[in-house]
Amino acid sequence: MKYKVPFVDYPQHYRRLESEIDAAIKAVLTGGDFIMRQQLRDFENHIAAFVGTDYAIGLNSGTDALHLSLLAAGIGPGDEVITVAHTFVATVAAIVYCGATPILVDIGNDFNLNTEQLEPAISPRTKAIIPVHLNGRLSNMEVVMGIANRHKLMVIEDAAQALGATFDGQKAGSFGLTGCFSFYPAKILGGIGDGGMVVTNNKEIAEKIYLLRDHGQQRETGDILYYGCNSRLDNLQAAILDIKLKYLPQWIERRRELGALYEEGLSGLPQIKTPPPPQPGRYFDVFTNYVVRAEARDKLVAYLKEGGIEILVSWPKPMHHHKALDLGHFHLPETEQISKEVLSLPLNTEIDNQQVAFVIESIRNFYAE
Ligand SMILES: Cc1ncc(COP(=O)(O)O)c(C=O)c1O
Repeated sequence: MKYKVPFVDYPQHYRRLESEIDAAIKAVLTGGDFIMRQQLRDFENHIAAFVGTDYAIGLNSGTDALHLSLLAAGIGPGDEVITVAHTFVATVAAIVYCGATPILVDIGNDFNLNTEQLEPAISPRTKAIIPVHLNGRLSNMEVVMGIANRHKLMVIEDAAQALGATFDGQKAGSFGLTGCFSFYPAKILGGIGDGGMVVTNNKEIAEKIYLLRDHGQQRETGDILYYGCNSRLDNLQAAILDIKLKYLPQWIERRRELGALYEEGLSGLPQIKTPPPPQPGRYFDVFTNYVVRAEARDKLVAYLKEGGIEILVSWPKPMHHHKALDLGHFHLPETEQISKEVLSLPLNTEIDNQQVAFVIESIRNFYAE
């Protein structure tokens, strides 16, 4: 189905940078620069500068960014890692891949980790916390880092949805031992396939992840220092992402404008709860997603789709209710409630103000009927 308002408009997104992207593809192909070449190093340096960290390591996904961060941090069987259930499954899967146990806590009304639940969840086996900065807003990192430091826990930030967002002026990904980003095509900095990145200020961790992503090989000596994996960010992806990174600040401004339009158009509607406004001066949100809580959510979603508006629901079933994941019993009332109410409205850099007005009007019409 061709939507009047698509969730992401990939062809249009490409067309706006067509000549630059085509030139970059040609340079990579004619240079034969496919793996671990200059374009990757340039992109890593630019991301490190953008986030404000000493190191950035390009990987093949955000999932691997989380997984390799945990491995490099020495997390393994017998360890517990605290995170949220209201996240993409990758956050929890990365913990399980390492043989560690995920301990799930509830979220607050900002969709992020409820920091009041952190300390009660800590046990003698706890080694790390993964705050997930959902929808382009950071978790309260003053509280998270305070608790982590007091209990000597590592913090691995799942910043897959928060590239460019700040808390107290500091960028997502630069607070913890590592920060993990995703360049999945629908992300605010999206590739033409999968991609991810770890950022860190810790030299030892950076060096370990450089090796882990390349089968543990030390290329200069030929020594193999660990069992690693193949998780190198392709040069072609890096070249294209590096072009897009130059435009990211202006795209973020546009996303914030669109967020404000939705907020203005929907805030008076009693059946819709818009994202809680950020505490001024503390949070700079990048609106990776515009997620509202809605009465009669499933009927509204069907109505909007019927009217040509593409909607996403992330996530209709709480993580700990997926039997196959075998996560055990957790009491997470806010997570369970929110899974019945959330929907993501289209917000992307290709959408125009009339399309946003159409989405708002359609939602108002649904409740008026
Ligand atoms: C919160 C969160 N964590 C982790 C990931 C995993 O990233 P990727 O899809 O690049 O593996 C994603 C993105 O899909 C995400 O949204």
